[in-house]
Amino acid sequence: MTEEPALPLPPRELASRVFAVEGWSDADQAYLTLGAQTKEQIVRMLPDDWSFGGKRVLDFGCGAGRTLRHFAPEAEVAEFWGADIDGASIEWMRENMSPPIHSWQSAQLPPMGLEHGSFDLIYAISVFTHLTEGSAPWLLELHRLLRPGGLLIVTYMGRWNSAWFAHEPWDENRIGMNVLHHNRAWEDGGPAVLISDWWLREHWGRAFEVVEIVPEFHNFSWALLRRRDVDLTSEELMAPSDDPREFAAMRHNVVQLQRELVRERDHHWQGHEILMQGQAAEYEARIAELERVLRERDRGAGERVASALRRLRP
Ligand SMILES: C[S@@+](CC[C@H](N)C(=O)[O-])C[C@H]1O[C@@H](n2cnc3c(N)ncnc32)[C@H](O)[C@@H]1O
Repeated sequence: MTEEPALPLPPRELASRVFAVEGWSDADQAYLTLGAQTKEQIVRMLPDDWSFGGKRVLDFGCGAGRTLRHFAPEAEVAEFWGADIDGASIEWMRENMSPPIHSWQSAQLPPMGLEHGSFDLIYAISVFTHLTEGSAPWLLELHRLLRPGGLLIVTYMGRWNSAWFAHEPWDENRIGMNVLHHNRAWEDGGPAVLISDWWLREHWGRAFEVVEIVPEFHNFSWALLRRRDVDLTSEELMAPSDDPREFAAMRHNVVQLQRELVRERDHHWQGHEILMQGQAAEYEARIAELERVLRERDRGAGERVASALRRLRP
């Protein structure tokens, strides 16, 4: 049965920013169904005693409100906000979904300009799957925007998408937060960030209690996080732990990027084009940066061994 949309559908170019419109025989219906399923999954993850009455909720990276539109009934009793970097999506939401939904155009990097501690629930669907340098600052910004004990639902990917993005089987031991397609534009799908459960627990777990991880829904893993009362910088959030997988993951990211660079060169070569010098240089810079961190770590480990040996010598 075809659902009659209560709110207008966004134009195709806005819908296609958030999902592959071409893959469906009825793209409008798919847009509605996937959004409705996403809402249901969010609601399923909330605590049993949760009620929306009087709450403030933020959809971070809302696009043109694919999920938010399904919260219109709850928006009668709660305040719903959507934030996105895309001006056209936010403008469309202002014209077509407000009221009941409030919208906010955010910048590339925080802060957001909304009040500290003002949200009870924030969710980010398919956003941290693409954030690279912005990932830690944005996670901490959402932490700032949540009230004490507030909830954050975030999707992340890797386990179910490794073959697609990295052309290799998933192996939890060589993935931390591994970034692929680092410089790909949002219009072309954006960067792909693979995250493993252990890495999320170790790093995001410093700012949030990991309440639940739902391993797979819509090809994502879903984390329900509760804000911890801590004050962290991005460096503190990202600093490698003692887990040996931290550096194994960085080393593997170097391999992944080198493979990606070769694939890009081949792809361009087949199209009788040459990979732009700038693009190749961006890859090489990223690889060099990872290698620098690994060298520093090896040097640090070497120095620690040398000083332990010196202490042992009579
Ligand atoms: C793959 S889409 C998902 C959209 C929406 N959550 C959904 O599930 O339909 C990712 C969205 O994140 C938005 N985004 C990227 N960087 C952002 C940022 N710094 N602040 C807010 N939104 C951002 C993009 O513009 C895009 O709309």
